[in-house]
Amino acid sequence: MNRIQDFSQARQAAQPIVVVTAYDVLLARLAAEAGVDAILVGDSVAMVVHGHPSTIHATTEMMCLHTAAVRRGAPESVIIADLPFLTARRGARAAVDAAGELLRAGATGVKLEGVAGHAEVVAHLVGSGIPVMGHIGLTPQSHLQLGGYRVQGRSPEEAARLQREALILQDNGAFALVIECVPAAVAREITAALSIPTIGIGAGVSTSGQVLVLTDLLGLDAKFQPRFARRYLDGASNVRDALKAFASDVRAGLFPSPAESPN
Ligand code: KIV
Repeated sequence: MNRIQDFSQARQAAQPIVVVTAYDVLLARLAAEAGVDAILVGDSVAMVVHGHPSTIHATTEMMCLHTAAVRRGAPESVIIADLPFLTARRGARAAVDAAGELLRAGATGVKLEGVAGHAEVVAHLVGSGIPVMGHIGLTPQSHLQLGGYRVQGRSPEEAARLQREALILQDNGAFALVIECVPAAVAREITAALSIPTIGIGAGVSTSGQVLVLTDLLGLDAKFQPRFARRYLDGASNVRDALKAFASDVRAGLFPSPAESPN
């Protein structure tokens, strides 16, 4: 997949869409080599790379820096970059400015969290030639208002609201949307009501695709394991063991060997 249009074709062909986050050149290259369909430069970068307590610390400058690195690692991939917290609240013009910077940094499209008050911004971005991915359910940029990182859409009223929001995003031109931390049955109904693809995270198996944060998938943070994220590697132990082996070799005078030393 290397075009936004491939998302809709994948949905029509019922081919699950595989998305991972990446923030740097090496992991972006590996993701592309592994054949993932799209890379998300998520604003989770503020937490997992920069150590901030939440995604509200991501800035357009930070997102552009990481988007450019990911583009260098994955020159042919579809790369979606998050619009940082509050960007869309400053109006269509601010959103277009930030999205323009992200596209110039290498993004193929942008992702925008939440729907209330954003419909016109989405339409304006799309009308300006900028592919937009929506994001509903648990929207981490609103964690203060949501009272934490909780499953959304459990009540029939909330589920109906999510369904309405999804349709608003579709009607305003979003090419796909992320559904985060929503009961599987609700995500299934939303997906069935839409013609654009849905990409789930903690939303069951019936969405059109799945996205995981790369550091969760690689098990790089031993202290953080969301229930919905499957660990495909014990990255923290592997990296720590490699570093311990290096330290031990240096201290024992075993590194570098003659073959690793210049003549
Ligand atoms: O920022 C991010 O990594 C995301 C994913 C969790 C979908 O938005």
